[in-house]
Amino acid sequence: MTSKVIPVLPFDMVIFGSTGDLSQRKLLPALFRRDASGQMPEQARIIGLSRLDYNQEQFREFALNALNKFIPAAELKPEIVERFLNRLHHLHNDVTKPDGWDGLRDLLNEYPDRIRMYYLSVGPSLFGTIAQGLAHVGLNGPNDRLVVEKPLGHDLASAQKLNHEITTAFNEQRIYRIDHYLGKETVQNLMALRFANALFEPLWNASAVDHVQITAAETIGVGTRGGYYDTSGAMRDMVQNHLIQLLCLMAMEAPYAFNADAVRDEKLKVLRSLRPIKGQEVQRNTVRAQYLARGEDPSYVEEAGNPDSHTETYVAIKAEIDNWRWAGVPFYLRTGKRLRSRLTEIVVTFKEPAHSVFPNTPLQCNKLIIRLQPDEGLQLNIMTKDPGPGGFRLRTTTLDMTYAEGLGPDWRMPDAYERLLMDVVRGDQTLFMRGDEVEAAWRWIDPILNAWEDSNIAPSTYESGSEGPIAALELMARDGRRWREMVV
Ligand code: BG6
Repeated sequence: MTSKVIPVLPFDMVIFGSTGDLSQRKLLPALFRRDASGQMPEQARIIGLSRLDYNQEQFREFALNALNKFIPAAELKPEIVERFLNRLHHLHNDVTKPDGWDGLRDLLNEYPDRIRMYYLSVGPSLFGTIAQGLAHVGLNGPNDRLVVEKPLGHDLASAQKLNHEITTAFNEQRIYRIDHYLGKETVQNLMALRFANALFEPLWNASAVDHVQITAAETIGVGTRGGYYDTSGAMRDMVQNHLIQLLCLMAMEAPYAFNADAVRDEKLKVLRSLRPIKGQEVQRNTVRAQYLARGEDPSYVEEAGNPDSHTETYVAIKAEIDNWRWAGVPFYLRTGKRLRSRLTEIVVTFKEPAHSVFPNTPLQCNKLIIRLQPDEGLQLNIMTKDPGPGGFRLRTTTLDMTYAEGLGPDWRMPDAYERLLMDVVRGDQTLFMRGDEVEAAWRWIDPILNAWEDSNIAPSTYESGSEGPIAALELMARDGRRWREMVV
């Protein structure tokens, strides 16, 4: 089965920081794949901007290397590679110099009616400068779209400042804040599961659900990103954005329509209903930890090159949502690096039946497991009769639906950036975060980060390759619950 491809309108995409890591690993490969699928119009151009003195040929060579590195050879058909490379242009530009914008404006004005997308793959300290530079030469009109990605602030105050800087240059309707989790096919499937089926929605509330677990576990450590990571930590790197977005999609009310503001209004209501975790409650309802060395693998503090670092590589939180639907239903979040398995999943544990007619057989609660990666799919654990004679015994049976099954052997799960970049061209902001959402997430996270910092207590530790620190087990055990085992 091949997916349906609807070509987008002609566009020019400008990548600021075009010779950086994101451009190489994600943006250029995603654009190539959209080109190969036939979604890119013939006229589309990709304009790289960097401080390097590259000429066109050098930039094309850089892009070719990126494709060779990040796309399997079988996908690299020579005629498509050539077509793609011909779309590439490069401009040398120091964005901090106010007179450096004319070349870009002149190049773009060769086709004044096109959609223009400006992808800021540079440090956030340059977001305001670039947005204002573009506005200064009139590149902030109805067809101009600004794309930014985390870190969108370090705390609430800096996020507000950043929002202010970019929104004074670009209208909110033209700003696309990427959280790549929202571009994942399976994350969108969560909305399909909830709002395109009648089955689960009546049970999606406090009268049927006991608790929800959201896990994003990775096996890799911070590797060469230690410098960035040590100023960030798992809370800012994963919880403030990806995990909170998953929580919002799980917990939100049905939007009145599947459009950008309707969906984002509902997510915002969830964020505003999150019960603040402050002061003493932080010790009780959150866990932060760092991984230790194992065998050849160094510990976090060694990788970060900072023996005194208190930066967390693991976070667990018990979150509560104070609204009618979810009152009394905890949402347990956890994420970490160098854990036992790489998996992202959401587990909805339903309540026990109101009364058991099988007094001698313990009943297991039903669980709906939404696996986002790997082996994307759904599992539903239900109680069934153990087949055969010899008494009436019960057992747990799993109904298993693998997402890719039935899509055929050629089906490839598209990378999040493929979807998101084309959505920018289409002008669809549904899968992008609005400024008020980002600020609301920081508003909830800030007191936790502050309490950690004020306490001056070092994070707990955990063995690399384990399921995380003991303290996280205790967080659940106190409520008489357990994390689902990290098995893939
Ligand atoms: C990124 C984080 O946003 O998400 C990384 O900065 C993390 O630290 C990554 O590894 C995880 O994304 P994925 O798509 O591999 O689950």
